[in-house]
Amino acid sequence: MKKNIIILALETSCDETAAAVLEMKATPPNPPSARGGMEPQIKTLSSVVKSQISIHKSFGGVVPEAAARAHVKNILPVVQKALLTAHYPLPTIDYIAVTVGPGLIPSLIVGVEFAKALSLATGKPIIPVNHLLGHLYSPFGRLPATSYQLQANLFPMISLIVSGGHTILTLMKNEKDYKVLGQTVDDAAGEAFDKVAKLLGLPYPGGPEVSRLAEKSKTHIQFPRPMINSKDYNFSFSGLKTAVLYYVQSLQPTSYNLQAKKDICKAFQEAAVDVLVTKTLRAVKEYGAKSISLSGGVAANLSLREKLKVESKKLKVNFFVPQKNLCTDNAEMVGLAASFMLHNGFKPKNYRQIKADSNLEL
Ligand code: KG4
Ligand code: ZN
Repeated sequence: MKKNIIILALETSCDETAAAVLEMKATPPNPPSARGGMEPQIKTLSSVVKSQISIHKSFGGVVPEAAARAHVKNILPVVQKALLTAHYPLPTIDYIAVTVGPGLIPSLIVGVEFAKALSLATGKPIIPVNHLLGHLYSPFGRLPATSYQLQANLFPMISLIVSGGHTILTLMKNEKDYKVLGQTVDDAAGEAFDKVAKLLGLPYPGGPEVSRLAEKSKTHIQFPRPMINSKDYNFSFSGLKTAVLYYVQSLQPTSYNLQAKKDICKAFQEAAVDVLVTKTLRAVKEYGAKSISLSGGVAANLSLREKLKVESKKLKVNFFVPQKNLCTDNAEMVGLAASFMLHNGFKPKNYRQIKADSNLEL
């Protein structure tokens, strides 16, 4: 009998150094599933994330060179820990999956070159993974328990990816075929959260801070919802950010206190979430989707998670969102995407064929 496939996955596209080990069942499930029993069964054996928040906090954002230096320092211990926790020494790994883009090029290069060196030393082929594909497949991890099997009635699926660098609405026809319906024409959703946080003098990373403060407000401030009624599936967040700026500038210094900041956070979050949810639901209706999935760092936002969950229930469609620690960058999602790539027929590559590409698109 063919042994299960073991994947070591690496992620260094921005400011998290991450490694994970995943096991993919080589044989189809028995008895076969509704679709004929060919879906991959994937188990996460370890997932290690070393965050760089403490390094970038004092700069109020990610400093690419500092990020790359930290990746260089952290990647070896992070990979060692992932292998040790999974109880799979390096020679027993079948494939090395690595994020090749999009992202910050100095950061990407560290993971990519490390993967190539591992490949050269061990002879194991590489699976180059698009970071956005990682987010797209991240809702399929750890469901339920640690393994997940796709069923026929999940597709078509509307997938919303909301991260620090991207806001993309996707139609997944099945676990292999997907089509981008729309994306942001300016700032990404997470970028808008981060910029509003900075404007309000809140610490980096801004997204979690904005959502924390938003919970403590019952404001009636209304900010605009850019492109909410546009016929396409594109998004725009820079006008919303500017509306927040003008509102702050309009306040008297005496009334610009902590409560005012909480109210602004709440009103901003409501506007951003409203646009994201409205467009997602419209796509669900237009394409007769049976499921919604939500991923990317902003998917950790409680308000967005809750709204989409409630609306999915009303529309009687499935809703998938990763655990919070699978929303922000990690290597488990890179391993998941690699497993689906293998399952969908991708042929792993020689290290000479691999290079980082900061502008890679989904
Ligand atoms: O996916 P991710 O870790 O990195 C990229 O691929 O960009 O996403 C990071 C983004 C940041 O903009 C961060 O502020 C945002 O996700 N984020 C949040 C929350 N947690 C992280 N935004 C809103 N609410 C949150 N709770
Ligand atoms: Zn990401």
